Amino acid sequence: MKTATDNETLKTIFERRAVRQYLSDIPDDDILEKVIEAGRMAPSAMNRQPWRFYIATHKDTISAFSKAIAKVASKAMLKNAVKHPLETIKTLVHFTSGPVHLDSEDNIFHGAPVVIFITAARDNEWAGLDIGMCAQNMMLAAKSLGLDTCPVGFAKYIGKTPVYHKLGIPPAEEVQLAVILGYGDEKPEPHPRIKNNAIFIDRMECC
Ligand SMILES: Cc1cc2nc3c(=O)[nH]c(=O)nc-3n(C[C@H](O)[C@H](O)[C@H](O)COP(=O)(O)O)c2cc1C
Repeated sequence: MKTATDNETLKTIFERRAVRQYLSDIPDDDILEKVIEAGRMAPSAMNRQPWRFYIATHKDTISAFSKAIAKVASKAMLKNAVKHPLETIKTLVHFTSGPVHLDSEDNIFHGAPVVIFITAARDNEWAGLDIGMCAQNMMLAAKSLGLDTCPVGFAKYIGKTPVYHKLGIPPAEEVQLAVILGYGDEKPEPHPRIKNNAIFIDRMECC
């Protein structure tokens, strides 16, 4: 019997993981261009194609961004802890058990050689969804080209750091997400997926 992963597209979907350790090699520009082009092919509300891509490939730039974000993000987490202590504990447990290597030089971008900040207009109510789709296209394209990625929500804090001006993002735009990419140096196991969340609404006995 054929399994879902017999199909190349499904195989890529199932094999993509959030990777948080990278080799230092920077992928060639033509590969980066293919990944970005895949992002541009995402659907968008009213076909606005709101994404803009700001790409950092210099180790020192990425490290400076990472440090500045880590400072702001930890302050924001502390503030949140007062209002939502349980949620904050859960976040901390999640981070300390994997996603953020607290002892690492680059807690936010995990030592990836490329960081792509994706922005959209501040006044676009669909931006979050559009950028999510764009990022997923990019991550799947990257996987199909032999690269690994991780979406980085913490990147949105870059707007509150003193290094933000270095990105040259116009005031009307804001960072929604960053995608880090490179050649992965780890092969994480997939997290088990929650399965009881598909409800066929018209298969129940009726009346
Ligand atoms: C919107 C969004 C934001 C995320 N932000 C971060 C982040 O800031 N740092 C990080 O290490 N991982 C981040 N992740 C990655 C998730 O932790 C990861 O996708 C999840 O644990 C599932 O693992 P998988 O992608 O390997 O299936 C983010 C994922 C999404 C979808």
